[in-house]
Amino acid sequence: MAEAAIANGSIGKMRSRIDGRRKVTGSALYPSDTAVANPAYAFLVTSAVAKGHVRAFHLNAARAVRGVLDILTYENTKGAFETQPNPGGASGGATTTLESPRIWHDGQIIAVVLADSYEAAREAAYKVEVDYASETATAGFDSAGATEQALAQISESHEDPRAGNAENAFAAAAVKIDAHYYTPPQHHNPLELFDTTCFWTGNKLTIQEASQFVHGLRAGVARQLNMSPDDVQVESRFVGGAFGSRGGTTARTALIALAAKRVNRPVRLVATRAQGFTVATYRAETRHHVKLAASRDGHLTALVHEGWEITSRPANYNVSGTEATARLYACPNVWTKVSIVHADRNTPGFMRAPPGTPYMFALETAMDELAVALAMDPVDLRRVNDTKTDPIKGVPFSSRSLIECLDRGAKAFGWAKRKREPASMRDGDWLIGWGMASALYPAHIGAAAARLVLEPIGGAHVQIGAHEIGTGTETIIAGLVSDTLDIPLQKISVEIGSSEFPPAGLSAGSIHAASVCNAVAKACEQAKARMAGSNDPFAAGAIEIYAENLPEGASPDAIKKLYAGQPSFVEDDKHQRYAFGAQFAEVRVHELTREIRVPRLVGAFAAGTIMNPVTAKSQLMGGMIWGVSAALLEETEIDRRAARYINTNLADYLIPVNADIGSCEVILVPEEDRIVNRLGIKGVGELGIVGMNAAVANAVYHATGKRIRDLPIRLEALL
Ligand code: MOS
Repeated sequence: MAEAAIANGSIGKMRSRIDGRRKVTGSALYPSDTAVANPAYAFLVTSAVAKGHVRAFHLNAARAVRGVLDILTYENTKGAFETQPNPGGASGGATTTLESPRIWHDGQIIAVVLADSYEAAREAAYKVEVDYASETATAGFDSAGATEQALAQISESHEDPRAGNAENAFAAAAVKIDAHYYTPPQHHNPLELFDTTCFWTGNKLTIQEASQFVHGLRAGVARQLNMSPDDVQVESRFVGGAFGSRGGTTARTALIALAAKRVNRPVRLVATRAQGFTVATYRAETRHHVKLAASRDGHLTALVHEGWEITSRPANYNVSGTEATARLYACPNVWTKVSIVHADRNTPGFMRAPPGTPYMFALETAMDELAVALAMDPVDLRRVNDTKTDPIKGVPFSSRSLIECLDRGAKAFGWAKRKREPASMRDGDWLIGWGMASALYPAHIGAAAARLVLEPIGGAHVQIGAHEIGTGTETIIAGLVSDTLDIPLQKISVEIGSSEFPPAGLSAGSIHAASVCNAVAKACEQAKARMAGSNDPFAAGAIEIYAENLPEGASPDAIKKLYAGQPSFVEDDKHQRYAFGAQFAEVRVHELTREIRVPRLVGAFAAGTIMNPVTAKSQLMGGMIWGVSAALLEETEIDRRAARYINTNLADYLIPVNADIGSCEVILVPEEDRIVNRLGIKGVGELGIVGMNAAVANAVYHATGKRIRDLPIRLEALL
């Protein structure tokens, strides 16, 4: 039914965001905007050293500030809750806090001050005196004390993709590339600061917090506080940016819940921008060693990709991007390995296209270097190495439209007019460079459930524990119901963002649209069947449907697990499931000042069914702009002596403004995939950033003849 609607073109219409008006008029309430009665305010005290322990707190001056209610430290919270040193990512975020005097990283939460006003809490927090026993900290790669572990050695589930004999093939090859790449630490910096508001009604805890996984947060906090999840409710109606930073349960939520219990009133925390750098997650810096070998006609004969990622001392968090880079091109001999390097840092976490962004920068820059070595056009090099089967496992791709993306993107960009030689195109004092890269991102789906109510008067109401993190979730849900049940959009209301609604998993990993829409489609089908089987379907009033969607390959108890806060991802042994894209960038480098401008971007993407071209294009465009940002501007700078972030504000942490981005064209390449899920949705949340870093870096090479392998590429690298 919903599938038929896709086939006849009635699903996937252009529609403006139904929440757009509320957002631009300020009436959309984000969790920290939502009023609570008689709140107390929390202000975090964070560690000024990166390693060691707290010898003593001196709290008299802080307690003397008028309006101070309480100060939480490990001394008075011990045993009240447990926030294990957690693994980062989906199941956790910042490193453990307040269980002990131990300090794992700079900026770790060591105390929470509660007061009648935000100002009093802040003033008192600055008056907390801490006597530290400080040790020399390890900042990152190459710092003394950094310890390396191969993932395959510490994780049973980790497998480094390998095939054939890459070492021999590399040694024997006619043309080869052997290079090292680096990507820096980056922080999400969502516009909405990291917030938590908690209040208790008897034994029931209500949490208002911007989240990418309300059921996960509910279960995670319940576990930390040793409560039943049934007694915890999470409300997260709108989310002011997330990008991976709000997928996990961090220690701060349970802390604020505990604080609310102690002062017996609601407690609101809004961490400062600077604190957000250490009380939440970030994208860890990575290193790569890539070796590529090819025959003279450009066919890859060996691909070696070794990656290293920074993580904290207690966690093994990693993103492991060789899963994707080993599968992008046909190659008989592949060898990959991923290692983590522990340092005295906060635990990293997911950040938009977690594995793709750093790992694909390395591979797709190396591919450009190979094209130069082969004297071959970079698009042609990708073309000859396309494959319909996974080079590692030999299984087919469920669908794969890389060639179509290359064709459509190259044509729209005008790639045919490119001159091969670097520094051969110019406009006055500006050197012009044209670069490109491929993109791919896994197409996952998880189980989800939805509630649908059809009113006798002709309206529909949907409730689902889905999330609006800026992606347009409500709009695609309403559009799907409208198209499937033939109900006008104005008569459809959608409620999301609450753990009181049926669970829909994480809004992350480009999984949400597929999971949510397939569950809502199932509810619509059941509603239609109910109506078709009755002469007077509304005789007993409204029709209420609760539908669970268990995609093929999902574990039978996936819905139960979702209620318990465990995300579900479908496994498919018979196919590789990826969305693909081709990305093109024009840069201009000033001949004398080396200023870098980016006037033009084109991306062509094939991601199965597009539920709404308006919101899908916005997602892809946002990803592309972020790719430019990552390639040229973004880096969290570290004082290596203190293992401390330096540029912890939006003045010094560089991101592009409108004037930095010229035209950005997004092309949606039609693609049908009946394997990924019933609606054929692959997801577009992350694909847009994946190839952009390398496309820009390759364009910089083409403009100047300088190959820069460390991001970000700033003008000093081109002097
Ligand atoms: Mo995303 S980094 O999967 O929220």
